[in-house]
Amino acid sequence: MQTFLVTGGVGFIGSNFILKARKQKWANIINLDKLTYASNPHNLAELQGDNGYKFVQGDIADSRLIQDLLAKHQPDAIINFAAESHVDRSIISPENFIQTNVVGTFNLLEASKNYWNQLSPQQGKTFRFLHISTDEVYGSLEPSASAFREDTPYNPNSPYAASKASSDHLVRAYQHTYGLPTLTTNCSNNYGSYQFPEKLIPLMIINALNGKQLPIYGDGQNIRDWLYVEDHCEAIYLVLQQSEIGQTYNIGGNNELANITVVEQICTILDELVPKSNFKYSSLITYIKDRPGHDRRYAVDCSKIKHDLGWEPKENFASGLTKTIQWYLNNTAWIEQIQSGTYQNWIRQNYENRKISLST
Ligand code: NAD
Ligand code: DAU
Repeated sequence: MQTFLVTGGVGFIGSNFILKARKQKWANIINLDKLTYASNPHNLAELQGDNGYKFVQGDIADSRLIQDLLAKHQPDAIINFAAESHVDRSIISPENFIQTNVVGTFNLLEASKNYWNQLSPQQGKTFRFLHISTDEVYGSLEPSASAFREDTPYNPNSPYAASKASSDHLVRAYQHTYGLPTLTTNCSNNYGSYQFPEKLIPLMIINALNGKQLPIYGDGQNIRDWLYVEDHCEAIYLVLQQSEIGQTYNIGGNNELANITVVEQICTILDELVPKSNFKYSSLITYIKDRPGHDRRYAVDCSKIKHDLGWEPKENFASGLTKTIQWYLNNTAWIEQIQSGTYQNWIRQNYENRKISLST
């Protein structure tokens, strides 16, 4: 069986990927994660005792550590999920985004190049470096503009998007200059189980369950393309197995929805699953001060991955959202663990200057 070095695997998408990889016997996994606020080791509790899984705490910017891990475990592929991922945090404090997303990715590339250069010709031929990126690198779309394609020019607007764009350019340059066998995927907004409740969907589910306001930035008409995380993980594995070296693929859910529509759908599902006799969840919806530089619309054209690799998303939004809400309803202990002091500090920092109090 192959071995993958996964970075950032204790976060939302990485956890889902590792759980699937082990369940479906895709590979043995070495999971390197710094364990920032966004990680949750409980996500992977079921892998305790699994000999094909190993966790290492550390930073992708630590070159010595990466060098040692590569030498020791001889992975067949590196999948780089590790990142600072929340746009609002990048607006308030961008430094960590540059350090992890730019410097960290650079460091990983440099170590991978050195490792790949000393592999046998056979190992070198099959080795892959897969970089997980975002559709936000393409900027914001006008209402009638066509969806992002792989050849859409980069136009990042937030410090987060700029740091991811920068990392994508480094990956591209390492392929072009040194021949490192890289692949890049640019996906749209993921949703599903284990997502940290700073992001729209889990924040709304958890606030609603706690009877708190549901804070909508601006007019609620910003559009995102929602991708069910399990569909995304399958696409990643397919790209890793079948893509030609140097390719980039857009991955989206074919679910373009305005934020207010998403939140109304969450409220409707909660009205059915956890009805309240004295109010409807939608009465908690509150419009608040907008995110600075807020991108208006993202939409992803997935025709390249469908054409080349036969992938398309399986989950429709209504069923994916119901499954996601059900997961949060069944995992109240998980929610309690992450609503720590640090989480409350973030909620205060992000929402109190928008004149709304959501902290406990
Ligand atoms: P996340 O914030 O949930 O998890 C990130 C993980 O990376 C955490 O476990 C964290 O501890 C780890 N990490 C952070 N800095 C690190 C460092 N220096 N060294 C090692 N580990 C570090 O993120 P996510 O939502 O799972 O996103 C994963 C990747 O997918 C990111 O690269 C993100 O940019 C990209 N992406 C996410 C989405 C989305 O909707 N969530 C959409 C498009 C792209
Ligand atoms: O498009 C892919 C990107 O999707 C990823 O690269 C990022 O890592 C991921 O965080 C996500 O970025 P967004 O900014 O689109 O996601 P977020 O969940 O923060 O917000 C989704 C939309 O909802 C966005 O238009 C802002 C809005 N929003 C968000 C929050 C947290 C609100 O209206 N209220 C809120 O409280």
